[in-house]
Amino acid sequence: MNHPILLQNRRRFLRGLGLGAALFTVPGAFAEGLVRTPRQTEGPFYPDHLPLDTDNDLIIVNDGLTPAIGEITHLSGRILDARGQPIRNALVEIWQVDGHGVYLHSRDTHAKRDQNFQGFGRFLTASSGEYYFRTIKPVLYPGRTRHIHYAIKMKGREKWTTQCYVKGEPQNEKDGIYSSISDPKARASVTIDFAPIKTSRAGELAAKFDIVMGLTPEA
Ligand SMILES: [Fe+2]
Repeated sequence: MNHPILLQNRRRFLRGLGLGAALFTVPGAFAEGLVRTPRQTEGPFYPDHLPLDTDNDLIIVNDGLTPAIGEITHLSGRILDARGQPIRNALVEIWQVDGHGVYLHSRDTHAKRDQNFQGFGRFLTASSGEYYFRTIKPVLYPGRTRHIHYAIKMKGREKWTTQCYVKGEPQNEKDGIYSSISDPKARASVTIDFAPIKTSRAGELAAKFDIVMGLTPEA
């Protein structure tokens, strides 16, 4: 069920950025220190109505001309099994607040929503297990530190959710959901760098979040 638009976007983005191999190559030594990504609550704001556009570019809704407000971030990573092998055909979904701190959800009305932010996106992994989104660096909203929600959906398996966090964000330690991850290695595995891309004149960021599922490879 590879969606042609997803594939098209993926090719366009990878080509456009020249990120392809550089970001996704993981040396063999990586498997040694594999830490399973902790599960985190789905929370109350998984979209209750999906956007008109659910592709992997959250900055532009359909063919809109005005991009979303926020620090543009190229968010990528791989979905791996417990041995570090890539998982294909995993549907990666992300959702997060817009630049005003508002979710794409009818119950989130504390501020005006940025209509140009898609709020939610999907990417189906190919054999490399890679995913890619263009989105914004998450902002703070009342009661939470910066985070992006993830749901991983695979055929025949229960939906699996987690959240990733911004390294160096002072609010992290005060966040109840973040702090509920007691193992320091597990905590580190969901705390990722949002680093400036040196070649980007527009100040765009790159972030990489690999997800290690507690699955053993299929025989
Ligand atoms: Fe949230």
